Amino acid sequence: METKIYEAAVRTEYKTADIFKIIKKCFFDLTVVFFMTMKEIFLNLLKSKILKDIKGQLALVTGGANGIGFEIAKRLAAEGCSIIIFDINQNESFKAMMEIRHKFNVKVKVYKVDVSDFKAIQRAKNEIEFDFPGQSVDILVNNAGILSATSLKEGTFQQIQQIININLASHFWMTKIFLNEMIEKKKGHIVGICSLSAIEPIPKDVAYSASKFGTDGFYRALFDELAADNHDDYIFITCIFPNFTETRKEVTKYLEEIEAPGLSLTPEYVAEKTVDAIKRNKSNVFVPWYGRFFSIVSLLPLKVKKFVKCDLMLKKKNQ
Ligand SMILES: NC(=O)c1ccc[n+]([C@@H]2O[C@H](COP(=O)([O-])OP(=O)(O)OC[C@H]3O[C@@H](n4cnc5c(N)ncnc54)[C@H](O)[C@@H]3O)[C@@H](O)[C@H]2O)c1
Repeated sequence: METKIYEAAVRTEYKTADIFKIIKKCFFDLTVVFFMTMKEIFLNLLKSKILKDIKGQLALVTGGANGIGFEIAKRLAAEGCSIIIFDINQNESFKAMMEIRHKFNVKVKVYKVDVSDFKAIQRAKNEIEFDFPGQSVDILVNNAGILSATSLKEGTFQQIQQIININLASHFWMTKIFLNEMIEKKKGHIVGICSLSAIEPIPKDVAYSASKFGTDGFYRALFDELAADNHDDYIFITCIFPNFTETRKEVTKYLEEIEAPGLSLTPEYVAEKTVDAIKRNKSNVFVPWYGRFFSIVSLLPLKVKKFVKCDLMLKKKNQ
């Protein structure tokens, strides 16, 4: 009996010593993290003033035939990049190609590719190797997406699956296929066009919102994967979170219905912020900048959140 009490006392003593060790280690680690953070904030401030020269680089924009993608392609061409567009709309792609060539006098090629189809992307990559000999993609902009207001109750299996495949899975496939060459060349920039609905979901738009939360998660995890293998010094990741952007009449109609017509952005503005982020190697960019504070909504009490999102937004839409 006595021995047991003695053993227990020794174990407690041992545990106390352990706790001190843990506290000491935590304090040391936190101090290191604090000073590293300060140093990085300072360096990033300095670095953000230096603009990367992207002239002569090969940029691939998915969904570049219309809207935000088209404007990004034009801005990259204005910077002197050669342009590749992957889009399913052949007519619009052709028009986009002619306009970019005419205005910016750079090499432009368009490929009819469904970015949710892994094999189609691989086939197009082989064509790129033929069309741009000796070059590989330096800047990849994963922009293609469908704007579909689909609730879980009313959306069909096909509609929901299509949103997940195009808006989310395509980012995996495009990146998987073009990343290896970037790693080999030790040079690259991958951009994902996400949405502010990845900060706070749009009511009754479950598939779209979830696809954008997934997109945000994909780029965070991709950064970690590259950092773990020390590729983060030469391959940069940028995720763009735009608010409603007037690219299609559906967006304008939706904003009119929720009585918020002045809330939307122009695709030109989103493209300007995107290319600026590429040139400054920024990681997360909210357009407009105060969009990052939309996450405050998730901290509201549930009844207040329901009032803001459903009573104010949806009821106006359904009136
Ligand atoms: N418009 C907005 O309000 C808004 C807001 C935030 C984020 N976004 C995001 O920005 C991106 C672009 O949106 P947009 O408004 O410019 O759209 P858009 O409809 O104007 O253009 C999208 C382009 O992608 C192409 N595309 C669609 N499916 C494709 C596929 N499977 N394979 C290849 N190309 C395909 C279309 O043909 C079109 O040219 C999307 O990811 C969207 O979710 C848009």
